[in-house]
Amino acid sequence: MHEKFLGMTPPMGWNSWNTFTHAINEDLIKETADAMVSSGLKDAGYEYVVIDDCWSLRQRNGKGELVPDPEKFPHGMKAVADYVHSKGLKFGMYSCDGTHTCAGYPGSFEHEFQDAATFASWGVDYLKYDNCYKPGHMDGEMLYKRMNLALRNCGRDILFSACNWGHEDVWSWIQGSGAQMFRSTGDIQDSWESIKTLFLSQLDKTPYSGPFCHNDIDMLVVGMHGGSNNDFIGSKLGGCTDVEYRTHFSLWALMNSPLIIGCDIRKMTDYTKETLMNPDVIAINQDIECRGPYIVPGHDPAVLMSLVKPMSDGSLAIGMFNLGDKKAEINLPFWDMGIPAAAGVGLEMYNCWTRENEGRFTERYAAVVEPHDCRVFRAKVVMG
Ligand code: GLA
Repeated sequence: MHEKFLGMTPPMGWNSWNTFTHAINEDLIKETADAMVSSGLKDAGYEYVVIDDCWSLRQRNGKGELVPDPEKFPHGMKAVADYVHSKGLKFGMYSCDGTHTCAGYPGSFEHEFQDAATFASWGVDYLKYDNCYKPGHMDGEMLYKRMNLALRNCGRDILFSACNWGHEDVWSWIQGSGAQMFRSTGDIQDSWESIKTLFLSQLDKTPYSGPFCHNDIDMLVVGMHGGSNNDFIGSKLGGCTDVEYRTHFSLWALMNSPLIIGCDIRKMTDYTKETLMNPDVIAINQDIECRGPYIVPGHDPAVLMSLVKPMSDGSLAIGMFNLGDKKAEINLPFWDMGIPAAAGVGLEMYNCWTRENEGRFTERYAAVVEPHDCRVFRAKVVMG
């Protein structure tokens, strides 16, 4: 059995790690599923509620099976999955290709088929598969292929979210393993520097991502505002400004990254909601062709960057980003984007954040952009 369109476009959902790390339990997951519906996130396209590391006991049971921690999940995982499903959402879980998960719980090494069967019996729809405690002599590529084989034979459609942080040239072999998404970076932190570093590290990898196999630049920190319980992720980093979170969301959308929310969605501000649920920016991310963006020449891209993502309807998604620390004009020369003004071709520029049509432009578009801010357009090609 295999659902034909599983993972065709970048998966969208929520994951427990960024904000809660080890502090997870049944009530949190249920309340998050409730909030996914009541806030409008579900209607905006977010689908998966994913429990990350720290959900199990430290030991397998006598049959070698993984056991949910009864203090955190007193009714077991099937009850949690059933609740998530009752809200019209899908349920995700986490394991690891090594002997232990990154937080030291049992990993799936040499238990792949058994664990896939366990996840299927609980009603799991998504598996994030990490890379800690991998025995040194084992080939990571083979282990991801092995887990995918187990998932494809467990009797349930389970989206495979590989997470080896870009090791072993993952982009060059992951598509053959069958994973629908692959983490290509180290862990994100709730800071502008981290957002910028992760984004810039993946610019040369866009050709390796496409429908059914998406480069995952890591989960979103949008709306966290320093709210993690973990020092590394950002409880001491001070978080980002709302403008920085909006730029982060725009970058991830244009890069075709999965959109997996990491903030506490039970407590989102209006600004966070508007950022995460902007239908025009989500539509750019979810275009069925998943064509990678290209950089428009003319500026130092580490400071002022314009990205163009050609959409399946013939329009262009355009992001203009001021990654630098000074206010600056960003110039978008249409010639470099294949728009011949002399032949009477121009662009009708719709601003996705102000949600206004800025009219028709020929030859170029320019905007003065504040530091760490951006403009995102859906531009229609017009003649005459
Ligand atoms: C790794 C992953 C993170 C998270 C933690 C859990 O660091 O990259 O996304 O899953 O493990 O321990």
